[in-house]
Amino acid sequence: MNQEKITAAGLKKYLSLFEKSGVYWLCLLMLPGTDVFVSMVKALFYQNTINALMASDSELFLRSLWMAGVFLGASMSRCLITYIYMYQIRRIMQRLRLRVMTHLHRLPMPYFEGHHTADSIQKLCFNVENIKNSLANGHQRIISPLLMGGAAVTIILWLDLRIGLMVIVLSVVSVRVGLVLSRPLRGMAVRIQELLAVCTENLTDILAGLDIVKMFPGARVMMGKYSKTNADAAACTMKRIRRMSDIHAVEWVSGFLCNVVILVIGVFMSHMGLVDFGTVVAILSLQDMVSFFLGNIGSAWGTLADALVLGDRIFQVLDQPVCSEHLSTHGTQWQQISYTAGDMGAGERLASEEECGIAIKNVSFSYDGLDKVLDGVNIAVGRGKTAALVGESGGGKSTVVKLLLGFYELDSGSIRLLGKPLAGYTLEELRSNIAYVPQDAYLFSISIKENIRYGRLGASDEEVFRAARRAYAHDFIMEFPNGYDTLVGERGESLSGGQRQRIALARAFIKDAPILLLDEATSALDLESEQLVQKGIEALMGGRTTLIVAHRLSTIEKADTIYVMAGGRVCEKGRHTELMEQKGMYRRLVDLSNGKGKKGNF
Ligand SMILES: Nc1ncnc2c1ncn2[C@@H]1O[C@H](COP(=O)(O)OP(=O)(O)OP(=O)(O)O)[C@@H](O)[C@H]1O
Ligand SMILES: [Mg+2]
Repeated sequence: MNQEKITAAGLKKYLSLFEKSGVYWLCLLMLPGTDVFVSMVKALFYQNTINALMASDSELFLRSLWMAGVFLGASMSRCLITYIYMYQIRRIMQRLRLRVMTHLHRLPMPYFEGHHTADSIQKLCFNVENIKNSLANGHQRIISPLLMGGAAVTIILWLDLRIGLMVIVLSVVSVRVGLVLSRPLRGMAVRIQELLAVCTENLTDILAGLDIVKMFPGARVMMGKYSKTNADAAACTMKRIRRMSDIHAVEWVSGFLCNVVILVIGVFMSHMGLVDFGTVVAILSLQDMVSFFLGNIGSAWGTLADALVLGDRIFQVLDQPVCSEHLSTHGTQWQQISYTAGDMGAGERLASEEECGIAIKNVSFSYDGLDKVLDGVNIAVGRGKTAALVGESGGGKSTVVKLLLGFYELDSGSIRLLGKPLAGYTLEELRSNIAYVPQDAYLFSISIKENIRYGRLGASDEEVFRAARRAYAHDFIMEFPNGYDTLVGERGESLSGGQRQRIALARAFIKDAPILLLDEATSALDLESEQLVQKGIEALMGGRTTLIVAHRLSTIEKADTIYVMAGGRVCEKGRHTELMEQKGMYRRLVDLSNGKGKKGNF
């Protein structure tokens, strides 16, 4: 992106932010026009009234009364136009916010991994909000001098072509100087926005990790970072203010010089009999409007630069490709395969992939396109069966779960859910078939009831209570003074880890999806909470195809098939007893966890 130049293409793109806003632009043009008209009528009213009173001229007095009527009418119209103008700005902002939010919501996971949360907040809240200032003031600051200057030059040309042409030449020179001086403003505006975004990122980090910030000496580093970025942003803003002051000074001087030149030349021409003196006076009075134009064009350019920078930042979101509705690139390379009895759980007959609840075939994947995180992974879970994924940290277990959720595109291989390739699902369909409980399930800062209902909007209160009972959450919820209406605070801060997890399970219960994905749903809990959550999980698993990433032996022992993952590959698979007999990695993990004294925890 060229940070200095304002191009027609850039301007066109910026204007495309304001869809369906014809009425706004009309009002924007009408406002300065009405202002000029109101001032003109007022001046004529004073002239007529004074002359009528002094000459006792009733006809003139009648005309001035008529002018007063026009003045009142025009003033009221101005109020009405201002109201419509402000109303239109509200509507445009409402549409723009929704457009950015909807787009953000549809962006794929990699976007959010590459951008700090604060960056999205900065764009959605501050940058979009600052666009409002451009809509309300900035555009007027650009349009008004242009309209008034243009109108004045046109009338001067009409009054006297030669002086008019001179005014144009002088204006072009002044405008050129103003534009050259204002060129760095755009780069400065970009830098200021970038620094403010970093400030918001630092602030979000400090607030999100407040307990760590308070406890560790690293806090000083975080505060130091914030303070430095804040100081840099202030310094950059000051530099910009200084540049704007310089531009203003030069503009006013050049406007004044233009006036002097026109005055001298006009008087000289009048003296030579080339133009009458009245015309020179009229031109000089119009020259004020030209001066207003010249005195504002550089700063108007700066305002435009600011607006375009804000637009660019919003387009950094809007230009990102969104997730397609269909998972078209998933599973296109599907080939017929059949699974062994081991894949389906011991004792099962040979099954085809159509019969599997989850069938992952030869899947390879990397987050960055370079390092393979999964390499030829094969996993099959029979319908209604349970498979467990275990293995070393960083082995790729959570990545398997994220691929099943459609968060990323596969590099190669294919996935089928309930017999259908992922390519056959829309994202919405896919996700409606899956209940997902992550390790640290997110709770929204709304009531417990609404958090559970988030699993299936429209579920009745009775269904919410039933889901909570099945997740062993009902009893502790009822102990709160406000029961199900208790607000859980930001991220569910007012609840314990076990309570949060059971509410997340209730949310999965109410969703009642045929496939259940659990990613270490109990690993962070104490023994008592774990037992309750474990009971909830077992109830939830009943009859559903379940893939569970687990560190707890209690969960794994009962699984129909256990897959042991290391280095992005499945290195062992089978039932607990079979794997224990193999004396491979699984056995080593179990022995290790038993040896650590924390029984049953990998
Ligand atoms: N969003 C990401 N971007 C880039 N690399 C990632 C991302 N998420 C995970 N990885 C990398 O992929 C590898 C597998 O990660 P994954 O989270 O799947 O492991 P895991 O088996 O679930 O580990 P753990 O048991 O510690 O949860 C790791 O090397 C990790 O650093
Ligand atoms: Mg993981």
